[in-house]
Amino acid sequence: MTIQWFPGHMAKARRQVTERLKQIDVVIELLDARLPLSSRNPMIDEIVAGMPRLILLNKADMADQEVTEQWVQYFREKGLRTLPIDALSGKGVNRLPGICQELAGDMLARRAEKGMQARAVRTMILGIPNVGKSSLINRLAKRSVAKTGDRPAVTKAQQWVKVGDQLELLDTPGILWPKFEDEMVGLRLAASGAIKDELIDFTEVALYAIAYMMHYYPQRLLERFKLSALPADRIEMLEQIAAKRGCLIAGGEADYDKAAEIFLRELRSGKMGTISLERPIDWELAEPIGKPLSSLQAEQNP
Ligand code: G4P
Repeated sequence: MTIQWFPGHMAKARRQVTERLKQIDVVIELLDARLPLSSRNPMIDEIVAGMPRLILLNKADMADQEVTEQWVQYFREKGLRTLPIDALSGKGVNRLPGICQELAGDMLARRAEKGMQARAVRTMILGIPNVGKSSLINRLAKRSVAKTGDRPAVTKAQQWVKVGDQLELLDTPGILWPKFEDEMVGLRLAASGAIKDELIDFTEVALYAIAYMMHYYPQRLLERFKLSALPADRIEMLEQIAAKRGCLIAGGEADYDKAAEIFLRELRSGKMGTISLERPIDWELAEPIGKPLSSLQAEQNP
């Protein structure tokens, strides 16, 4: 993933998406089930204002099912239809045409009242880079559709893809940006693998994810790293991981960065089971779980 978003890119992305929305009846907003709000564009409500919308929680195969249900409830309470899916295996995807038909009910009824012929519902997929837009388009189109770059400047001619006889999908997704300014959002995205490894500090990201797991998934850490008890804090936990994985530098000290990288790879590849990196409750906490130590220190000694 090559991604560099500048204010100009964001304005351009927004313009491109807004222009294409004119052809659309129902918007499909694709989020990562493991971190739905952190993988959401901050301006999405403004961008798609007033349009029928379906939220898809993709990569549900990697998320904690109980937490995914909390998210479905969360969005439902906001009046948004929400469906967990897995674009790779296709689980849940066959429900899309029916739900889009329901969401476009008003449009279809207006056409019928005017004596116009029924037509397929037109939709497009919107989401931040790496959330699975291309995988979903390929799954719906039943073919491999070329992937555009992650930058809105990269465009290709768009086409309608038929999904059965009830749905038509634009084969080029709308690419939007995440909430860059929020430190916790960046950490969750990085932990999930949505940000190129060259751009992240493994230790910082792993310390966030370790703190999160010590809080919500302690048992998984104990089992994975064969520990009898949880260490006192996240730094000790990283030390233990370094010891268990043989990450040592000269002198026998822990190689934190190496251990952090290994831990993140194991997390992302599902070796610790299905894990969600954010829950609705996390957004209500004054101090988010896994907040970086540097930020905590800065707040204590301003
Ligand atoms: P994008 O167009 O939104 O940028 O995302 P894309 O479809 O390229 O998907 C990004 C990564 O997420 C890909 O993995 C893809 O295989 C994976 N992915 C997409 N949907 C799902 C899903 O529902 N479940 C799981 N487990 N993974 C999903 P990658 O490692 O970057 O690429 P590749 O090795 O699969 O080619």
